[in-house]
Amino acid sequence: MRLAFITSNPGKVEEAQIYLSSFGVEVYQLRVEYPEIQADSLEEVAEYGVKWLAERIAGPFFLDDSGLFIPALKCFPGVYSAYVYKTLGVNGILKLMNGVGDRRAYFKSIIAYWDGDLHIFEGRVDGIITEEPKGSGGFGFDPIFRPSGFDRTFAEMTTGEKNRISHRGRALQGFATWLKENLK
Ligand code: IMP
Repeated sequence: MRLAFITSNPGKVEEAQIYLSSFGVEVYQLRVEYPEIQADSLEEVAEYGVKWLAERIAGPFFLDDSGLFIPALKCFPGVYSAYVYKTLGVNGILKLMNGVGDRRAYFKSIIAYWDGDLHIFEGRVDGIITEEPKGSGGFGFDPIFRPSGFDRTFAEMTTGEKNRISHRGRALQGFATWLKENLK
């Protein structure tokens, strides 16, 4: 089956294509701008986006809302990750972390699938913010995020390696399992 992934982020698309192709699902990118509301949780942002899109385009489709959460910064940038990445960037986060002892961080991803009903899948990965950027793969905050139990940042991993442990990989795992069960 072919599924539309509504996003402007080719990095997210590559991850979903690599993950879902082994389940026989072909993912293609559909660029449709939709409102990303200011809300307290990724779930609310994703749900609003899906419902807005469902009134305008034919399903099925899915989108991903994700973010980086740093407990020492009161979980900033969190739901504001896309804006913070565009404005402060990776170096801005490193500056905010200057002198901060607790470098723990986590990524969270919400995948919202619309087939006439809304289905939500989520994933999380824990790790730390590195002292400096490393690696050239991936996108966004990948060069400064090192997942727990690994000595490389996401940007130093292949997409397949990142998918096996990442927030998005875990959300995709739930999504793929659900698709297998429900699309017989
Ligand atoms: P959104 O999901 O489009 O709102 O954007 C979330 C933002 O969080 C992106 O612009 C990235 O900066 C960041 N982000 C989300 N997932 C990842 C990831 O897997 N690696 C690195 N940064 C990410």
